[in-house]
Amino acid sequence: MSVEKLYFDELNGKKVYIYKITNSSGASAELMTLGAGVHAINIPDKNGKIEDVVLGFDNAADYVNPDYGYQGLTVGRWANRIRDGKFTFEGREYTTPQNQGTWTLHGGGTFSFGLWDVEETGDDFVTFKRFSPDGEDGFPGNFTMRVKYTLTNDNTLKIDYSVLSDKNTVANPTNHTYFNLSGKAGETVENHYLQILADYFTETDTSQLATGELGEVKGTMMDFTALHKIGDNIDEPFRACIGDVGYDNNYCLRNKDGAFALAAVLEERESGRKMEVYTDLPGIQLYCGGWLKRDYTVGKGDSKVTYRRGVALETQFYPDALNIDSFPLWTVKADEEFKTTTEFRFTTI
Ligand code: BGC
Repeated sequence: MSVEKLYFDELNGKKVYIYKITNSSGASAELMTLGAGVHAINIPDKNGKIEDVVLGFDNAADYVNPDYGYQGLTVGRWANRIRDGKFTFEGREYTTPQNQGTWTLHGGGTFSFGLWDVEETGDDFVTFKRFSPDGEDGFPGNFTMRVKYTLTNDNTLKIDYSVLSDKNTVANPTNHTYFNLSGKAGETVENHYLQILADYFTETDTSQLATGELGEVKGTMMDFTALHKIGDNIDEPFRACIGDVGYDNNYCLRNKDGAFALAAVLEERESGRKMEVYTDLPGIQLYCGGWLKRDYTVGKGDSKVTYRRGVALETQFYPDALNIDSFPLWTVKADEEFKTTTEFRFTTI
C-alpha cells in the first residue's frame, strides 16, 4: 500500500492536490483536497484490466461549477434540498441560501466547493479536514469536519465522516461520486444493473421537494428491490420524476436505525465489475445524471461528463429531514463527535 501526493491544479490562486492511494493489487483511489472529493477510482474488471470507474474533470474549475453536478465532492453541511432555505432547530429558525429555485441544494454551495486541509496520511488512508465557522451558509456551530478515505487490499473504498461542533447542530454529509463501472465514461449507465434495499421512497412535488409522504416502490418504476437494469423503466412517466431526468429520488433504506448494512448493489456485466454500497445512514439518493447537459462536457481524458453517463448513490438523511419531523434524523451534539461511514466495495462477477 502507498499514498502519493500529486499536484492537480490551482483554484483561486491556491494549489489543489490529489492523494493517490494504491493497494497491493494495483487498484487505486485518487482523492482531492478540493471538496475532499473523489477524482478517480481505478479498479480491475473481470480480466484484471484496471480502469477508472468514476466521472470527473482534468481541471479544478469544472468541479466547482454547480451545473456540472458536484462530481465526486463531499457535499455538506446538509446534502440535498431544504425547502424554502430555512429550518427550525431547537426552537430557532435558521436561513440557508436559496441557491436553486426557492430552496437550498447541497448546503448552499460554500462548504461543498471548498479546499480542505490534509490532517493525516498513512499507508492506506488520507484524512481531510475542513473548518466551517458558526453561521457559514446559515448553519449553527463552529463546525470541523473530517473525511477519512481508506482503500483496502480487497478494493473497498471506505469513507469515514466525523463532525465536531461547539454547539448542537445538524449534519448531512454525502459523497457525490458518479459511477460508470464500464470504465468507458462515454456510455450511459442504463445497462448497469441496480438493486436498492428499500421498499419506500420519499414522495416529492413538482420542484422535487420532499412532501413528507413515503411512497411504496412496489408496482412502480421506483422498484429496485430485485436487481435489474437502470434503463428498464427510467423513461416511464411517474409522479416523483421530472420529465426525462429519470431517477433523482431518495430511497428509504430498510436499515434505518443506524446499523451499518448493505444499501445497494450496482453491476456492469460486460466488464464484470460490481459495487456494493454499505452505510449507517437511513437514505440513499439515486441520481443518474439526468440534469447534466446533453451536449458533450469534456471530462478526464476525453471522457464525457454528460446526461446519464454516471450514477450517483448518495447515502444521506432523507432530503428536508430538517423540516419533516417524521423523517429519521440524528443530530450533532455540542463537543461530541458525530460519525457516519459509507463504503463502496468493488468486486467482479
Ligand atoms: C440532486 C440532483 C442534482 C445533483 C447535482 C443530486 O443529489 O438530487 O437534483 O442535480 O445532485 O447537484
